[in-house]
Amino acid sequence: MRKRVVLPGGSGFLGKAFAAYLKERDYDVVVLTRRVPESSEDGIKYVQWDSRNLGEWVNEIEGSVAVVNFTGKSVNCIYTKSNKEEIVSSRVESVRAVSEAINRCEQPPSVVVQAGSLAIYGNTSEVCDEEAPHGKGFSVQVCEWWEEEFFKQSFDQTRQVMFRIGFVLGENGGALEPLKKLARYGLGGTVGSGKQYISWLHIDDLNRMFLEAIENERYQGIYNATGPTPVTNQTFMKELRESMGKGWAPPAPTPFVWLGAYLIMRTEPSLALTGRNCIPKRLENEGFQFKYTDLKKTLSELV
Ligand SMILES: NC(=O)c1ccc[n+]([C@@H]2O[C@H](COP(=O)([O-])OP(=O)(O)OC[C@H]3O[C@@H](n4cnc5c(N)ncnc54)[C@H](OP(=O)(O)O)[C@@H]3O)[C@@H](O)[C@H]2O)c1
Repeated sequence: MRKRVVLPGGSGFLGKAFAAYLKERDYDVVVLTRRVPESSEDGIKYVQWDSRNLGEWVNEIEGSVAVVNFTGKSVNCIYTKSNKEEIVSSRVESVRAVSEAINRCEQPPSVVVQAGSLAIYGNTSEVCDEEAPHGKGFSVQVCEWWEEEFFKQSFDQTRQVMFRIGFVLGENGGALEPLKKLARYGLGGTVGSGKQYISWLHIDDLNRMFLEAIENERYQGIYNATGPTPVTNQTFMKELRESMGKGWAPPAPTPFVWLGAYLIMRTEPSLALTGRNCIPKRLENEGFQFKYTDLKKTLSELV
């Protein structure tokens, strides 16, 4: 029998890549989206939801093998009051809706996987495994509320896996795109102090982690979904420039980054000025094998 996986918010950068990955492995894929869907594109079924209230979409969760929730307003925006509210509510309310849907199922999925974030550790250069203390600030609070809602419910028949995801490198989107653009125009220098860490991973490794969480019944609880070789921003920008055949570029001092972020990039400067040094301790304990651990090689393949 074919197996169905439901991807709430699966229309974005991570969800699209994972949907294609699942299709190649003969899973049936259903994406829950707020837009009026075409019903089926590229062999993937699209079903409408409002990401907050139960509706017809619950029928897709019934009898599915897994749900992987990618829903959330992008954090790549200026943190106005209304954007902040939407960043929180899109995450917390979608988690609540998915939990309620699972509770209603006669045949619930075996696992629900939640895409979360390493931002929970705040801005730190201390090595963070899953036991590390949480940081401070808005992004940390978002992650805490998100995780709290996810684990508020527990299910008899459905494992719960929370992936705190790092800086995902892939083609066609994600956080690498704006950095590539800057480097192309000779602006790919060190950002701020350059000492902030980037805990990166390749999107193929992330897809393999999601699949492992679905298929391996040992997976349960919180995992740092990131690669084993985090680097500082200074190193990352240098490797990016080199992979793009660009020479030295002037560093962007912190005040310049603040101005550029608000006025030109229209985004929150702390996204580039802060970072964390995270390791995938639990994944490594599970024996997960990373394909991409060398940043130079990874970037030269991607750019
Ligand atoms: N990409 C990364 O490097 C990264 C790193 C760490 C954590 N994450 C987290 O992983 C999740 C997926 O990331 P992504 O890069 O795939 O994000 P994305 O490309 O922005 O996709 C997220 C999806 O969420 C839905 N969405 C957006 N705003 C919404 C709102 N206000 N209310 C309800 N739904 C909304 C959209 O689906 P529809 O418009 O079709 O409804 C969108 O396609 C996010 O929660 C993100 O914070 C990503």
